[in-house]
Amino acid sequence: MNDMTESYISLTEVHPYQRLLSYPDNNPTQQEQVLRQLHQLGVECLLATGPVQLAGHPLLGVGYCGLVIAGIWRGQAVAIKLRRGSCQQANLNEEARILRQANLLNIGPQLHCHQGDLLVMERLSGQPLGSWLQHLGAEDAPELCRKLQRLLCQGFYLDTAGIDHGALRCAAEHVFIDGERLTLIDFSHSSTNRHPNNVTSLVAGLLWGTRLAQDIRRVLSLPERDALLPRLQDYKRQPDRRHFQALLHAIGLNEQEA
Ligand SMILES: Nc1ncnc2c1ncn2[C@@H]1O[C@H](COP(=O)(O)OP(=O)(O)O)[C@@H](O)[C@H]1O
Ligand SMILES: [Mg+2]
Repeated sequence: MNDMTESYISLTEVHPYQRLLSYPDNNPTQQEQVLRQLHQLGVECLLATGPVQLAGHPLLGVGYCGLVIAGIWRGQAVAIKLRRGSCQQANLNEEARILRQANLLNIGPQLHCHQGDLLVMERLSGQPLGSWLQHLGAEDAPELCRKLQRLLCQGFYLDTAGIDHGALRCAAEHVFIDGERLTLIDFSHSSTNRHPNNVTSLVAGLLWGTRLAQDIRRVLSLPERDALLPRLQDYKRQPDRRHFQALLHAIGLNEQEA
């Protein structure tokens, strides 16, 4: 994904980009501290690239909790998440801890390292599920079925491991598609202390009442809420493989093909 348009930002020269290192406040002391942390973690440089613009600078993404900036760490393309001042969490330690657990299940972008207010993780290529869906037509139904199966399976693995992702109702932006690979991102709302609701949140967001559901229904015919409710309730009561498979089957999907 690196190309000639990605301009290299050294960590040792003062650069207008540094403004983003303490967003939304413009706090030079904090910016210096972030630069020191990046350096200590082994980040070689930042890259001015990405689909989002903030204060005139391109970056990979902006959320409520963090800014995500491209960079190079030990020669690899990475995404660096910096905690924003507006973030509810005091630091990104819990997000890092849970992302590491998810990585053990082969879920999420690989976390390379972290420190207090920043995460250094694998930089994903591809695009969010919401925009990927825009380009699908009726002939892509089998491919979409495979993606939904694999997405729900990842939700099931997280449920089984006791990790609640916490933001899967917004699957349009929190699922990245890169060819065959499908990656859940943003563990900033995750918890291992509440009942995991990954499968049920995904089903609700994918099937009913969202823009995403409308886009999926352009390509696939899916059951209405009342028809699926008994299977969802069974799974909620007892979230085991048998009930998960029955739920997939009722949606018209099949775990074996995942
Ligand atoms: N590993 C990554 N590789 C590429 N882009 C990413 C990566 N992680 C996040 N992004 C982009 O940055 C955006 C914001 O990141 P996210 O973790 O959702 O932040 P927040 O917790 O603030 O919502 C995402 O919606 C996505 O577009
Ligand atoms: Mg987010």
